[in-house]
Amino acid sequence: MNNVLRLIDKLEKEHSLTVQEYEELIEWRDDEAAKILAQKADSVRKGIYSNKVYVRGLIEVSNICKNNCLYCGIRSGNKSCERYRLTKEDILECCEAGYRIGFRTFVMQGGEDPYFTDEVLSDIITEIKKRYPDAAVTLSLGERSYESYRILKEAGADRYLLRHETANEMHYGKLHPKEMSYSNRMNCLRNLREIGFQVGCGFMVGSPYQEESYIANDLKFIEEFKPDMCGIGPFIPHKDTPFRDEKAGDPSFTCYLLSIIRLIHPPILLPATTALGSISGDGRERGIMAGANVIMPNLSPQNVRRKYELYNNKLYSGDEAAEALESLKKKMLSIGYEISTERGDIKK
Ligand code: 5AD
Repeated sequence: MNNVLRLIDKLEKEHSLTVQEYEELIEWRDDEAAKILAQKADSVRKGIYSNKVYVRGLIEVSNICKNNCLYCGIRSGNKSCERYRLTKEDILECCEAGYRIGFRTFVMQGGEDPYFTDEVLSDIITEIKKRYPDAAVTLSLGERSYESYRILKEAGADRYLLRHETANEMHYGKLHPKEMSYSNRMNCLRNLREIGFQVGCGFMVGSPYQEESYIANDLKFIEEFKPDMCGIGPFIPHKDTPFRDEKAGDPSFTCYLLSIIRLIHPPILLPATTALGSISGDGRERGIMAGANVIMPNLSPQNVRRKYELYNNKLYSGDEAAEALESLKKKMLSIGYEISTERGDIKK
């Protein structure tokens, strides 16, 4: 048996490889390995979640951000970005529309907008939980203090997404302004875990300066941290950032990594991300077939959707829109999966 197949077998049985082995699994990948990995990932996922694909209604609450991350289209230094911020009423209207369509998870995602203080957020979270006690609230609002995370949990938030972006400290430094630090990022993830959130991390595939060996460290980090969720998607350049001329990440490689992550931590909730769907016409379907089991359609008010532009040509219409749930259901059925409108917590 060749070495890659041996590594895939080991990963399937032990859910663990050395960093060196992850590196080999990445370096020696080919179509056959991708196919075998995807089959194993799919069957492992089906053993836990059957053919269900969970949906989350994504509400992009603000594209105002105090950070100036080099890759991101809503970075503070981008003067061409048309800024917006939703009000409490806007957000509640999104939830109402989403609940009616069937969504039982609302994700409030946004830049690090100082307007969203603990008080403002607690008020909104409390109201959502009061109106929809059977729905989960997920936050994706960046780095905050331990005390802040604690207050948000207390207000009723269930889950928190904070991509670690890269598990290599030097690489982290090349993607972020000097005010931001790898250690604070990782500390935030540990704090969120300690406070009792279901926690999601994640990284971009093919980000500038990324080397394949760094991804082995991302995989080791995921193996050790055992996040409840993990968002990975290809890097896609944005014209108003310093990385405008960098090349985009590879969707096939992203799917390969999705399969590996499924085998590392079988119960993980793994989205086929908007970035994957944006870069490849059938990206989302390919992600699901490779082992992903979550899709996050856009539930933001129609008039702001195009403004939350993290990268160029980000999808916000078609099946990416929450209103298109019926069409998404059909698409998923055609590849053998069933959209579930359950809350979809991690099965441990
Ligand atoms: N391409 C792909 N993903 C991006 N993100 C930000 N900018 C880009 C980009 N240009 C991802 C980051 C961030 C999440 C909100 O979106 O990983 O954590």
